[in-house]
Amino acid sequence: MGAASILFILVAGCSSQTNQRLLRVFFTGVDQTNSPPVVVEPPRPSTNTAAGPVAIVTVPVIYRHQPFLDGKCDACHLAGGSEELRATGSALCLECHQKLIQNAKFLHAPVRDGRCALCHDAHKSPERFLLTRKGQDVCLNCHKMAEMTKVKGHLSMGSAECLSCHDAHRSNEKYLLKTRQ
Ligand code: HEC
Ligand code: HEC
Ligand code: HEC
Ligand code: HEC
Ligand code: HEC
Repeated sequence: MGAASILFILVAGCSSQTNQRLLRVFFTGVDQTNSPPVVVEPPRPSTNTAAGPVAIVTVPVIYRHQPFLDGKCDACHLAGGSEELRATGSALCLECHQKLIQNAKFLHAPVRDGRCALCHDAHKSPERFLLTRKGQDVCLNCHKMAEMTKVKGHLSMGSAECLSCHDAHRSNEKYLLKTRQ
């Protein structure tokens, strides 16, 4: 998957002040600090001559963790704006995400060891599911591709996503294979 992005189409017939207000509304919840939006001017639409030029603005999407977005800092940090965490390892996360590992026969080693942070950011991420890396890189951070190609079950996998066969957290099947219904 390429970089996630959203196209905002702004009808710019109106004043630039209105545009700025629109931008503020549209950009609420979108982090602009790292990458400024790219603004391009496509041709005028031929059907609506009254509308004037249209600006298409592309901004990177930042996914935010719900409790972070809701300002519930105390769910994870000691009260009073402390940077210190209320718990270590997965205890911090499983208070709300217990279902994730419930009744599983097999747990993925880093999940068992409470290393959620190796794959997830607790606040926000440009990747879906708050992942720290893109696509297969989440897995290849620890599992070297050279080793992976030697695995029997991988002979015909081509460029298939690891997650098309494996669960990232747990499974009732060996090798974390996704449960077939
Ligand atoms: C879901 C749990 C969770 C929530 C909710 C949360 N944090 Fe954090 N926060 C963490 C974790 C985990 C770290 C440690 C990150 C690390 O060391 O990589 C952290 C680190 C920090 C740090 C240290 C600097 C940094 O970014 O690593 C600050 C400052 C911080 N959080 C502020 C906040 C504020 C402000 C809020 C509320 C708007 C908040 N956090 C909500 C889990 C959370
Ligand atoms: C105070 C409760 C709470 C805590 C603590 C908490 N989460 Fe969450 N988390 C939520 C809620 C609410 C959502 C959004 C609803 C959902 O997907 O369940 C969410 C969603 C997520 C998602 C999915 C995000 C998406 O884009 O779909 C991930 C990944 C996640 N949390 C990881 C973590 C990790 C890692 C920790 C520990 C650092 C953690 N959570 C701690 C409440 C919490
Ligand atoms: C090895 C990497 C890895 C580790 C470690 C990991 N996750 Fe995940 N997690 C993922 C991936 C990849 C997804 C993406 C969606 C999927 O499962 O298909 C995900 C999705 C999620 C989601 C949202 C989707 C869902 O299944 O509900 C939550 C919540 C979550 N993880 C929480 C956690 C918590 C809590 C921990 C620690 C106990 C953890 N994860 C450890 C890789 C990991
Ligand atoms: C933080 C390092 C780390 C990351 C990231 C990671 N793994 Fe693992 N994984 C391990 C460790 C450690 C083991 C167990 C050691 C072993 O037996 O090789 C393991 C074992 C496995 C196994 C074998 C499980 C079994 O029961 O034999 C599978 C399948 C697997 N991982 C898939 C994945 C997938 C898919 C991803 C990406 C979503 C991923 N891993 C990301 C560290 C990681
Ligand atoms: C087409 C389905 C499929 C895909 C895609 C896939 N796997 Fe597997 N994987 C398997 C099967 C089946 C096994 C069972 C072991 C075997 O066949 O020897 C396995 C086994 C494993 C093992 C355990 C190997 C061992 O010998 O202990 C790891 C680790 C693993 N896969 C990681 C990954 C990673 C990382 C990716 C993505 C780069 C990936 N897999 C993609 C099907 C798949």
